Amino acid sequence: MSAAGSTAVADAWNGPVGAHWAEHHSRYDTMLADFDDALFGAAAICERDRVLDVGCGSGRTTRSAGRHAARGQVTGVDISAPLLDRARSLTDGGELPHVGYVLGDAQLYPFPAGAYDVVISRGGVMFFADHVVAFTNIARGVRPGGRLALLCPRPGAPDGEERAALGRLAALAGQDRPIQGELAAAMASLSEPSRIREVLSGAGFADVAVNAVTRPACWGRDAPDAVDFYLSRTPGLTVPDQTREEMAAVLRPYESERGVLLGAGVWIVTARRP
Ligand SMILES: C[S@@+](CC[C@H](N)C(=O)[O-])C[C@H]1O[C@@H](n2cnc3c(N)ncnc32)[C@H](O)[C@@H]1O
Repeated sequence: MSAAGSTAVADAWNGPVGAHWAEHHSRYDTMLADFDDALFGAAAICERDRVLDVGCGSGRTTRSAGRHAARGQVTGVDISAPLLDRARSLTDGGELPHVGYVLGDAQLYPFPAGAYDVVISRGGVMFFADHVVAFTNIARGVRPGGRLALLCPRPGAPDGEERAALGRLAALAGQDRPIQGELAAAMASLSEPSRIREVLSGAGFADVAVNAVTRPACWGRDAPDAVDFYLSRTPGLTVPDQTREEMAAVLRPYESERGVLLGAGVWIVTARRP
């Protein structure tokens, strides 16, 4: 498959999915916040590093990278215009003058050769049509000896908290699965360590390491709020009040002072360009 063959995915991120992430950026950032220490620990960004954030979305990790690389340069690249608009509006040019964004498809974007010391991504690298082609393109932008630190979804055990709870919500809402459409397959495309190693080795990276990290993912302030958020992710999806109540009942055991917390898993992946 050619790298240009991902129009449906690009359309989703420039359409309803990207609009949802842009509107609810703070919810997604809160949901993923507990994984950031693992990602940034793996990235080990230094003060003068030049950093590329692939699939940066609304730019939370791009701005964090900017604070780590306070005397370096940080670029976020994303295929979604609405998300980059949001990223730019959230980035204070006074505090972070060395942080910028480019609209582009990371599979094909002409990254300057050897321009980056570190490439990071919080869940932005699963959506490529041809992962080896995409990572070969990204590798060209990494200087020899430079490194990657990526977060990819890790499927939980069937009875794992997030997977089990979202599966029950989907069933109650009359859905086959919690994530619908084109993105469902893409989300799962880098969920096997053997596939991650194959892709990164095929793109010329060395020392590939894949480590499991489990953290609580916050889905809402309380169970009804989390149900509202869950339903808002599928345009046009409505359910009767009684179903909404049953969905809230699924989440009530996970309510805490910090909100509805569901144990969730990711892979933190590191690699080096020889
Ligand atoms: C799950 S979101 C994660 C966003 C962000 N990293 C975060 O943690 O909030 C995936 C992101 O990857 C972007 N994306 C998908 N395919 C892409 C591509 N080929 N090139 C660049 N960005 C892409 C999407 O537009 C979206 O912003």
